[in-house]
Amino acid sequence: MPQHTFILNGKPVTVDVEDDVRLLWVLRDVLGVTGPKYGCGLGVCQACTSHINGKAFNPCSVPLKDVRPDDEVTTIEGLPATVGKDLHPMQEAWLEYDVAQCGYCQPGQIMAAVAKVKQARATGREITEADLDEIRNVCRCGTYHRIREAIVEGAKHF
Ligand code: FES
Ligand code: FES
Repeated sequence: MPQHTFILNGKPVTVDVEDDVRLLWVLRDVLGVTGPKYGCGLGVCQACTSHINGKAFNPCSVPLKDVRPDDEVTTIEGLPATVGKDLHPMQEAWLEYDVAQCGYCQPGQIMAAVAKVKQARATGREITEADLDEIRNVCRCGTYHRIREAIVEGAKHF
């Protein structure tokens, strides 16, 4: 079995897994990192949203062979460490606005939110309503209104 190395939540990991296995299964089933959720497995629902090199991506759509040894994969489990805290400010805003209902989509929602704020700042501005409209993460419980409020609040604190 081929070996693959990448950086997961700040630490190098090496796995013995076939090249064509999608990263989501490696994270969840091989490495036991279950924050990224399995919804569609097709890059549509965004439940698995995590970050690769600081940008949002869907590990359900990435075969392991496409992950390089120096790629930094961050899941919701590693998000607080990116700001050196026990909870990321976006997670604190989520608690403040009591966003989650069943909770299934929420790790992906938070990872998408943080990436969207950073994407806006990379172009020299704060997030706008139009940016929020671009977030495509599906929430079957319909928590979209609270998600939008929490993103605006969370963005004020990092
Ligand atoms: S499970 Fe990855 S986008 Fe749906
Ligand atoms: S909180 Fe249930 S799917 Fe979003």
